[in-house]
This record gives sequence, structure tokens and C-alpha cells, in this order.
Amino acid sequence: MAFQRRIFSGIQPTGNLHLGNYLGAVRNWVALQNDFECIFCMVDMHAITASLIDPDELRRSTRELACAMIASGIDPKKNILFNQSQNPDHATLAWVFNCVARMGWMNRMTQFKEKAGKDRENVSLGLFAYPALMAADILVYKATHVPVGEDQKQHIELTRDIAQKFNFDYQKEVFPLTEPQIFGTATRVMSLRDGTKKMSKSDASDQSRINLTDTADAIADKIKRAKTDPNPLPDSKEGLEGRPEAQNLLGIYAALSNKTMDQAIAECAGKGFAEFKKMLTEVAVSVLGPITAEMRRLMDDPGYVDGILRDGGERARALSAPVITEVYDTIGFLRP
Ligand code: AMP
Ligand code: TRP
Repeated sequence: MAFQRRIFSGIQPTGNLHLGNYLGAVRNWVALQNDFECIFCMVDMHAITASLIDPDELRRSTRELACAMIASGIDPKKNILFNQSQNPDHATLAWVFNCVARMGWMNRMTQFKEKAGKDRENVSLGLFAYPALMAADILVYKATHVPVGEDQKQHIELTRDIAQKFNFDYQKEVFPLTEPQIFGTATRVMSLRDGTKKMSKSDASDQSRINLTDTADAIADKIKRAKTDPNPLPDSKEGLEGRPEAQNLLGIYAALSNKTMDQAIAECAGKGFAEFKKMLTEVAVSVLGPITAEMRRLMDDPGYVDGILRDGGERARALSAPVITEVYDTIGFLRP
């Protein structure tokens, strides 16, 4: 059976939307929206898996994220843009997937291991089941393609395993085997403080990331203080080996200025970091400045954003309802 090409992706409304999210995910979504049917989701149900979030803060972050996505160029009319909890079908399918996925599969998830750390006994059951909910987010729409950053590859592979086992167990091709779409020059943006660590919303140091809400001054300051090494920039890719900070900053520069890594290297070869950081600041401010300004403007009108999310939620429910019906009938649940 051929599945219609459909794109789904999600992002957690946990504040501090950063350059990694933008370059690794949101910017690619903007590029895809003209050619495909796209569903973009603020995964608020995932956001509560890690720790308790103040309810007002969760509402604020969800609206802020929606504004950031619209300000980045996502058209909420053409696409479906909504927050996950507006469609309970995600949770329904997630329960089914909790019964399909095996403990052994979940135990291998590196994101869980990283987030749980040494405190495995004390993290929520939701954090452990997180990837099954993610699979449900995708498959409740039978999405065939998922544009994400590098770090989500393992979760998409698990989504395929779940789809395959479900289809096999019930001897029916209900779900597609979803493909990850990992593209662009910045699929893994690293911390400004440590080139071996991923730029992340949850890093305690705000200096480690460029947030989409940062002012031009803050961006300049963070880039100025970003960790580097004492050598000038190299003239070849090989020259970046063992220089994670140089590699990361050049990668960010290339991505923001729409150049390939080779072009960026050719342009910057031999320059010292002081000069290069000025170039990087300039391009970062020119790309992010307009997005931040538009985001602020949209944030002043929560009624507008809430209307978009409500409309998106309604359209999302209309797409998932027939899939849930099919799942009920496949499993043997009597329908209301
Ligand atoms: P999260 O912040 O975990 O909700 O991630 C939302 C999206 O941004 C996912 O597609 C991630 O793969 C992507 N992402 C998060 N951090 C980075 C990063 N440092 N570099 C590239 N992509 C990222
Ligand atoms: N786990 C993803 C992240 O942390 C967010 C997410 C949840 C997601 N559900 C999704 C991404 C479905 C793509 C598709 O980045």
C-alpha cells in the first residue's frame, strides 16, 4: 500500500528556543512547507516529562514557540500548527504503542539515558515512555517524513520499529515506515561554551546558546565570549579536526549565510577569531533580528496565537480521527 507523503515534526515548548532548534529544525520546516502537507506541533505533553513546569510558564512558552515558528516563516494557514494536548488522539495511540514497544528497545534510548543520568529510579514514567508518545505523534497522522536534527534519529528508528511490529502483529499494513529528514549544514549545533556538547534548551548556562529572544547586544556578547582555540581558521576541512569550537562556529556561520562548509572555510581561511567573530555576529544579527522583532510583535497578541492553535488543533483532530478508528477496529476495541 502506498502512503501519501505527509510531514510531521514537533518541538518542546520548554523555553529558550535556540539557534540549534532554528538551524536544525525550524528553518528546514519553512523550506518544506511549500511542497508538502505539513503538520507542526508544539509538544506540550512531552514538555512535562522531565520536570514540573509552572502552568503559567508552560502556557507562555507554548505561545512563544508558536510565535517563533510563525516569525521564522511558517504559514499557519497552509500548514497545521497546534499544541499536542489539543488532540487527545496522540495520547490514545501512545497507550497502544506502550503495549507494542518492548522494554529492551526503550532501555536503549540514548536521550533517556542522558536525561535520566544517575537518577533513573526517580525520573517519571513519562520520560521513559517519551519515545512511544513521539511515535504516536507521527503515526497518528501516518506521517511519512519527519524533519529533525541529528539527535532525534534514534527516536525515528524506534518509530519505524513500532510501526513494523504493529503491522506484523495485526497482519495489516496500518502504519508507514517513517523516514527521518536530516539536512542542512547545521544538523547538530554545539554549545558556545564547549564544542563537544550539544546546544540545548536545558543547559544551565545561558552563555552556551543563542536564543531566538536574544537582543543584538546579547548575541554579540555571547559570540565574543564563545570558547575558541588560539589558532587562526584553517584552509581545509582536515584542519578542523580536533578543533570542535572552530568547527562549530564555522558551521553556524556557513548555515546562517547559506554557504557550504567548503565555501565558508575558503572565505575565512587564515583569519583570527576576533575578526571571524565579528563576521559571525553580523550575519547572526541580520538573520535573527527580524525574526525576534516579529516574534515580539506576535507575542503582544495572545488572542491571535490562541486562535491559530485552536484552528490547527481542529484540523489535526480531523486528520487523526479516521486513523484512530482504523486502530480501534484493527485491535478489537469496540468503538463508541
Ligand atoms: P527540542 O529542543 O529537543 O524540542 O528539539 C526540537 C528540534 O530541534 C528537534 O528536531 C531537534 O533535533 C532540533 N535540535 C535541538 N537541538 C539541536 C541542536 N543543538 N542542533 C541541531 N538541531 C537541534
Ligand atoms: N523529541 C523531539 C525533541 O526533543 C520532539 C518531538 C516530539 C518530535 N514528538 C515529535 C519531533 C515528533 C519530531 C516528531 O526534539
